[in-house]
Amino acid sequence: MKKILIIILLLVAAVAGIFWITWNIDPVEEITLETPPLLVGFSLGVYREERWLKDLDLFNEKVKELGAVSVSLMTDEVDVQISQIRNLISQNVKVIVIVPSNFKKLSGVIDEAQEAGIKVIAYDRLILDSDLDLYISFDSVEVGRIQAQALVDRVPSGNYAYIGGSPTDNNAYLLREGSMEVLNDKVESGEIDIVIDEYSTDWDPSVAYENIKNYLESGGELDAVVAANDGTASGVIEALREFDLEGEITVSGQDAELAACRRLVSGEQTVTVYKPIRAIAHKAAELAVKMAKGEEPEVNNNINNGYKDVPAFYIEPIVVSKDTLDETVIEDRFYSREEIYGDN
Ligand code: BGC
Repeated sequence: MKKILIIILLLVAAVAGIFWITWNIDPVEEITLETPPLLVGFSLGVYREERWLKDLDLFNEKVKELGAVSVSLMTDEVDVQISQIRNLISQNVKVIVIVPSNFKKLSGVIDEAQEAGIKVIAYDRLILDSDLDLYISFDSVEVGRIQAQALVDRVPSGNYAYIGGSPTDNNAYLLREGSMEVLNDKVESGEIDIVIDEYSTDWDPSVAYENIKNYLESGGELDAVVAANDGTASGVIEALREFDLEGEITVSGQDAELAACRRLVSGEQTVTVYKPIRAIAHKAAELAVKMAKGEEPEVNNNINNGYKDVPAFYIEPIVVSKDTLDETVIEDRFYSREEIYGDN
């Protein structure tokens, strides 16, 4: 009887042993630990201008090349952007790169990202009063200086209009600051009169158009217009055209949009500022992937956003006139000669 009991116990132990082994040794493919993809989020809060989809494409291209995965969402409404950022947070991205649609309204959702352990990068536009880990941009004060300086070099005195960017974009203020640095001495010496000084809601070209049109209609005279970007420059030039003044008045811009480069050739616009999009998008992707891996990004500057000194990485903007199209945008293959000059 004892023997039978021992045999039964041995049998039970053997069966349990076999179960234990098969339970614990999984088939080979199941024990291979697949590393989850490194997710990087991109929240684009503006797409009116030609540049932004390029920014996004180039960013995605570089993230992929670096072996990570980019999850991008876009809108131009701040409330939608907030929920899109929440969506990125819920997808467990490691870093979120943000082009804000509004420079003041994202601090709450950025706190939520930080609480979830996600790093936050402001791209091209600073976000105020928020816990940013990095700001990557062109130096917008310098862009503003370049714009005004290019005009002052050509038109040292006379009636100037300042047609600024959107009041909800921090860059609009930085640009104006840079331009006014250049213009102020001449205003004080009486050589330059600033006859219009307006922002343009949402960077809308039609707002710029209305401001110039109303001024000219009321009999005002102009010699130069600092337009904060190529979009607003297009509105300015449309208004000038209605008064047969296109090409007569010096006009600046920014972004080196294709239409603006063509206007440089036709003489309707005097200068634009080329901001190498490939350089900023690729650098942002590199730094984002680095930060996603827990590494420190390299920086070359910092900027106070009201909450902290945010480490910043700046890329040089480049002035472009009709005479320098070849050595700037064409050499950089931003556009081909044919795209700018047509087939002639
Ligand atoms: C950017 C410009 C752009 C403007 C309108 C600014 O923040 O720096 O490049 O033209 O927004 O989108």
